[in-house]
Amino acid sequence: MFFVFPLLISLVFSMVHAISASDVVIPDFELIASGTLDVKQAGVFDVPIGERVSAIVTGGELYLPNGTLAATVVSGTGMGNGIVATDEIFYPSVYMTLEWAVDGKLAYVHVQGVGYMETNSEVWSSMNSRFMIGNMTFTDPPVLGIFGIVGA
Ligand SMILES: *[C@@H]1O[C@H](CO)[C@@H](O)[C@H](O)[C@H]1NC(C)=O
Ligand SMILES: *[C@@H]1O[C@H](CO)[C@@H](O)[C@H](O)[C@H]1NC(C)=O
Repeated sequence: MFFVFPLLISLVFSMVHAISASDVVIPDFELIASGTLDVKQAGVFDVPIGERVSAIVTGGELYLPNGTLAATVVSGTGMGNGIVATDEIFYPSVYMTLEWAVDGKLAYVHVQGVGYMETNSEVWSSMNSRFMIGNMTFTDPPVLGIFGIVGA
């Protein structure tokens, strides 16, 4: 099953309607990092619009596009909770702490459809101002891709 974070699409769509099309530059996204998450499913509950899924993210690794290890998930810091709607789109809320491979500094990640990161790493400080979207494929283990606007 493949889930995308749908929020950004509706955001861009509503911007196009508010301003004339010629004023708007539609952003291009590039892959920042991707990798697998170790997830322990805590529960699946039927709710009126689909299923609520709760999971503990116990670990994981994220790699840069050139294959270099970017960061690992700090054990015991991750929690994912979301709705898999009846059309199979996943509306997630995910929190986790990452440890950068390059300097051992931490980053706090919060994703609710669109996401952000806070880190005290000097090497990765540009991530503090990047707007991110992600997609997640629920294979075993789940695969996460994080994308950012090109040039931002
Ligand atoms: C991979 O990309 C990162 C970030 O651009 C860079 O710092 C690193 O040197 C690259 N590694 C290799 C093996 O090319
Ligand atoms: C993200 O979505 C793209 C486009 O559908 C797909 O090719 C890619 O494999 C997905 N990546 C992940 C990590 O799920």
